[in-house]
Amino acid sequence: MRFSSCLVASVVYLLMEVYVVNGQPLVPAMFIFGDSVVDAGNNNHIKTIVKANFPPYGRDFLNHTPTGRFCNGKLAADFTAENIGFTSYPPAYLSNEARGNNLLIGANFASAASGYYEATAKIYHTIPLSQQLKYFKEYQAKLVKIVGQSNASSIINGSVYLVNSGSSDFVQNYYINPLLYKVYTVKEFSDIVIKSYATFIEELYDLGARRIGVTTLPPLGCLPATITIFGSDINECVKKMNEDAVSFNNKLNDTSLILQNKLSGLNLVVLDIYQPLYDLVTKPSDNGFAEARKACCGTGLLETSILCNKKSVGTCANATEYVFWDGFHPSESANKVISDSLLASGISLVS
Ligand SMILES: *[C@@H]1O[C@H](CO)[C@@H](O)[C@H](O)[C@H]1NC(C)=O
Ligand SMILES: *[C@@H]1O[C@H](CO)[C@@H](O)[C@H](O)[C@H]1NC(C)=O
Ligand SMILES: *[C@@H]1O[C@H](CO)[C@@H](O)[C@H](O)[C@H]1NC(C)=O
Ligand SMILES: *[C@@H]1O[C@H](CO)[C@@H](O)[C@H](O)[C@H]1NC(C)=O
Repeated sequence: MRFSSCLVASVVYLLMEVYVVNGQPLVPAMFIFGDSVVDAGNNNHIKTIVKANFPPYGRDFLNHTPTGRFCNGKLAADFTAENIGFTSYPPAYLSNEARGNNLLIGANFASAASGYYEATAKIYHTIPLSQQLKYFKEYQAKLVKIVGQSNASSIINGSVYLVNSGSSDFVQNYYINPLLYKVYTVKEFSDIVIKSYATFIEELYDLGARRIGVTTLPPLGCLPATITIFGSDINECVKKMNEDAVSFNNKLNDTSLILQNKLSGLNLVVLDIYQPLYDLVTKPSDNGFAEARKACCGTGLLETSILCNKKSVGTCANATEYVFWDGFHPSESANKVISDSLLASGISLVS
């Protein structure tokens, strides 16, 4: 299983290298929507405590710079941008870099602690998907000013859109929010979240997107912090949360198929991050990892965002063999493995 997916990834790589060889990316631009797994620094520019623009975040990134990415280094989305031939990353839309010709390779609208469920972002004062779409509309107007209407349209419809959301709706909202878990079963809440997902995709489609990759939920019960908080002293993945994630992912698949059939010209691909991350957690040594229960930052059991900082005690010296960087987010080396798997399943989006 592991071997064959590696093989697929290698073959895909070879193909891509041939395509990318003339120095042109496979698609005109890349647009990113969602939460902390893909946020490249938008939260730096808003009033929220959910931030990662201070050390040790970014210590293995270019120039050892904390950018607001919730990682020691690159995100899976960064590796994906490289894989399809970009030499820089779509700028965080609220950052100073998001202007002029820098906008030609796309933009990143993601905001940590936002979800498909609009109220999740409200709790944390972050940017809900509805606002991310408004920014995308604003972006399009800027793009038209730079390259004209006709070129802008072909950039918009030819580019790849990466959507990663939903985890915060469960981990940062449903499971800890009596106003939700006392009112809805997980299944009912999942249905509500999926409905918001479908609406989001339709709106993105209406704004011109045609090649959309949407990631599944990760194994929610295997994150270091969720094991600590919900694992009742068993140092293992929380089975119930993983089952919830799998059942959500099945709905995501079904709904995506319906959307794909309904919206003409849409290529909507579900990109599985559940299995690759689950494999890393349960069989770390197969992939050259040594630690999967504890994250690198601090005690590794919980810390994320402002709790993972320069003064956190216990932060590991080298995150390379850690699956997780902080209590909720994979390390750069895990992101590399995840991005290889995204590439293999998302090939139709860029070819
Ligand atoms: C639009 O694209 C064409 C062909 O790719 C290019 O020659 C032209 O300069 C572009 N127009 C603008 C305003 O950038
Ligand atoms: C994308 O937009 C360009 C320019 O408007 C148009 O020529 C092309 O047919 C569009 N392609 C798709 C797949 O909609
Ligand atoms: C979703 O569908 C794809 C193929 O259409 C399949 O490979 C994948 O296992 C499905 N995932 C889930 C979570 O059902
Ligand atoms: C971390 O360890 C890896 C090998 O596991 C090594 O290749 C790398 O250079 C180390 N990085 C740092 C910053 O020491």
